[in-house]
Parts: sequence; structure tokens; C-alpha cells
Amino acid sequence: IESCVTLNNGVKMPQLGMGVWQVNNTQAAQSVEWALKHGYKAIDTAKQYGNEKGVGIGLKKGLADNNLKREDIFLTTKIYNGDQGYESTLEQFEGQLKNLQTDYVDLLLIHWPVDGTYLSTWKALEEIYRQGKARAIGVSNFNITKLQDILKTASVKPAVNQMEFHPLCQEEDIKNFCDEQNIYLEAWSPLGSGSVLKDTRLQKIADKYNKSVAQVILRWDLQRDIITIPKSSHEARIEQNADIFDFELSDDDVNEINGFDLDKRSLWYGSFTWHGNPDGYKDSVEEWDD
Ligand code: A2P
Repeated sequence: IESCVTLNNGVKMPQLGMGVWQVNNTQAAQSVEWALKHGYKAIDTAKQYGNEKGVGIGLKKGLADNNLKREDIFLTTKIYNGDQGYESTLEQFEGQLKNLQTDYVDLLLIHWPVDGTYLSTWKALEEIYRQGKARAIGVSNFNITKLQDILKTASVKPAVNQMEFHPLCQEEDIKNFCDEQNIYLEAWSPLGSGSVLKDTRLQKIADKYNKSVAQVILRWDLQRDIITIPKSSHEARIEQNADIFDFELSDDDVNEINGFDLDKRSLWYGSFTWHGNPDGYKDSVEEWDD
């Protein structure tokens, strides 16, 4: 899988990667191995997922097994909400590198815009970027107001905003703003955590192309110029999700899926448990709900 986009600092990033949210260390190691075996060149994790160690182990094995070098892989991780703030981010990030068994990440994101700290956290990301320990830096779950806030004082512009994005949740305003600012939108939960896969309208489109609904959604992401990181813990699905470069959706089908937007965020807000900083978490959800 070699389809890359060019970020606003010139760094190339694979448009398809594998995510490992809700996967423990053992499963993460296994999934990463499978992903590398099936041609993935990008992996997305976060300290908050609690599996950076597993990702590190999987990468080490996957690189060796597939005769790959560290530079062949694009690795993303994120700053934990509870670690935000300038000093704390710089300090804690070193531990993340250790767990990932690497000297640098390719993309480092602020996981959530924790109020009162995300601006100083951004300064720390800029420092990490200057030190060469992250090849690109960006944010996650930032709405337009918060993006503007960062842009006002940033000396390095965010390269990416990673957010929930799937056919039922398209956040058109944020996508447009990111396009204007040359910030790449990256989709977390591109399959709506699996919930969108049963949509009969998508099944109809999938049947036409002899592809699965998951493949149609991921192909739609590519054609929408969005970076996408589906998660699976099953080898066959990991393989299937990468098999999206041999067909193209018609403009009509892309437009039809664009029309499925319900402007709804999932699902997971109800089940998310935040152990670190309840104030920060509550604020970001309320901000989103505005
Ligand atoms: P599993 O990990 O058991 O394979 P998202 O990336 O939107 O968070 O979606 C991940 C969910 O979708 C997981 O529950 C995953 O299940 C499921 N999933 C991922 N790829 C596929 C696929 N190709 N077909 C069916 N389910 C899939």
C-alpha cells in the first residue's frame, strides 16, 4: 500500500493506516504484525489506549519479519490528556518513545483539547518537532474555534486534525476549515466503530463493486482526500481493509454517501471512561456539543 498524501510541512503520510483503539498490548502487538505483513505502512496509537508497549513489540517483530526499516513505517501517537502542559508533555513523551522502542514518531497529536493546557502543550509539540523527535505534529478532536486558537500563536502549523469521521458523521464545517488551512483531516472510527457496516444503502453500493461495506467506506475516505485508520483485531479483516486500491467509486456513489451525514457523533461518548482529568474531559465534550 503506497498511496501517500503530502502534509503541509512536506512530509509524506500513507493515506491508509491501522488504528489500535480498544486493543490490549498483546492484541496490539499481533495486529501490528499482521498489518505490516499485509502491506500497511502506517500505525496509529495513543498513550491513552494503554498499548504503546504492544505496538512497539509488534513493530519490532513486523519490521524484522518483513525486511522493513523503521523509516518505512509511519507511526502516530498522541499526548495523554493527563500529561498536558509544557514540561509534563516533554517529559512524558520520552516514556512514550521508550515504550514504542523508537527514537522518533512520524506524527504526534494532542489527543484532546484539554482547556487551559492545550496551548502550552502545543508549544511542547513544537519543541519536540524542532528536536526531530516528531516528523510532523497535529491535533485531534479540535473544533474550529480551538483550531483557530492554536493557529493564532503557533509557529508550527498543525499538519493534521484527527477526528471522528464516517458516513453518518462528516463534520463538514471542520473538513472545510481544515481544507482552507491546509490541515489534513484524519478519520478515527472510519467504520463508525463497526456500526455503519450494517447500513443497507452502503451494502447496495458495495454489491455493485463486489466489495465489502468496510472497503467502500475506506475507499470513500480516500476519494474524499481523508486519511483513514480502520481498526481490526482479525487478520482477514486487516487484510481486507487494505484491499481498496483496485477500484474507484463513481462520483454519484461518492455523492450519495456524502448525503448520509446525520451530523451525529457516536456512540462512544456514552461508554468512554476518563480516569485522568475529569474537568478537561467534560469540557471537551461540552465544546463538541456546542
Ligand atoms: P474487529 O476488530 O473484531 O475486526 P472503527 O475502525 O470504525 O473503529 O471500526 C472498528 C470496528 O469494526 C471493530 O469492531 C472491528 O471489529 C470492525 N471491523 C473492522 N474492519 C471490519 C471489516 N472489514 N468487516 C467487518 N467488521 C470490521
